[in-house]
Amino acid sequence: MTHPALQPGRTAIGTGAASGIGRAAARALAARGMAVVLVDLAGAALETAVAEVRAAGGRALALVADVGERAALEAVAGRVKAEMPPVTLVMNNAGRGEASSCLGQAGPFERTFAANLWGVINGTQVFAPLVLDHGEAAAIVNTGSKQGITTPPGNPAYNVSKAGVKAFTEALAHELRNREGCKVTAHLLIPGWVHTGLTAATGSPKPPGAWSADETVAFLWTALERGDFYILCPDNDTPRSLDEKRIAWAAGDIIQNRPALSRWHPDWAEAFKAQPG
Ligand SMILES: NC(=O)c1ccc[n+]([C@@H]2O[C@H](COP(=O)([O-])OP(=O)(O)OC[C@H]3O[C@@H](n4cnc5c(N)ncnc54)[C@H](O)[C@@H]3O)[C@@H](O)[C@H]2O)c1
Repeated sequence: MTHPALQPGRTAIGTGAASGIGRAAARALAARGMAVVLVDLAGAALETAVAEVRAAGGRALALVADVGERAALEAVAGRVKAEMPPVTLVMNNAGRGEASSCLGQAGPFERTFAANLWGVINGTQVFAPLVLDHGEAAAIVNTGSKQGITTPPGNPAYNVSKAGVKAFTEALAHELRNREGCKVTAHLLIPGWVHTGLTAATGSPKPPGAWSADETVAFLWTALERGDFYILCPDNDTPRSLDEKRIAWAAGDIIQNRPALSRWHPDWAEAFKAQPG
């Protein structure tokens, strides 16, 4: 079965497509016969990624843009509208991380929000006419993170950005399904631990616990075909049952009036571990 957004002869736009999950998605979509637009920061990685798709016989366009800059994405949209077949898939996937602290500097928060959260908002708003105006079935997939749901201690800037992606994409799904005659759906991709440029040094071997980017995008297509909104990916360390336990515990902090992030609180950590699942 093929999701109507993944039709041969149509176009997919992916941000963060020079590396990791975005690059694997571009390869896989081209293999399905879609034209692909790879959007990323300038650099050799983008050139390599587009060359890889073309070498495999795919139609690909590489466009340089910082997703935090709306005008740059408007220029991408203009090129795609003029040069490519109708767009039926948008993947707002570009993302970054850096150390941050709630009591530290603003810079890490500003840079992380610009790419991870504004990148998704800009990409959704700027590319939306490309998927809405032709009236065909289409999908917008925004990449969130488990860290935006269970918000573990360690990197608040990343967690807040991804919590924003979750809230934005949930609202987007609601808006789209309440739009008269709209055939565009929204989806939240929630990767597990994926061996990519974000999580590992270039060329390092994949740890056994991580999934490859190829495994992650294969899971994405299957979930899209099922019509899932929350595309909650496992990895080799974390089965879905463990994610369910963690997500339920995080929601339970509010319902049970426990301290924030009680999973990591000395008085509660053992109680979490004792939960079944
Ligand atoms: N790898 C994981 O374990 C994991 C887990 C959860 C979520 N994610 C998310 O998956 C998405 C893809 O990440 P990945 O793991 O493939 O990492 P990656 O580093 O391999 O790829 C991310 C790409 O985004 C690009 N990018 C970063 N900032 C950008 C900007 N401002 N404008 C344009 N492009 C920009 C980078 O240049 C890079 O090519 C990210 O949103 C990340 O937060 C990854």
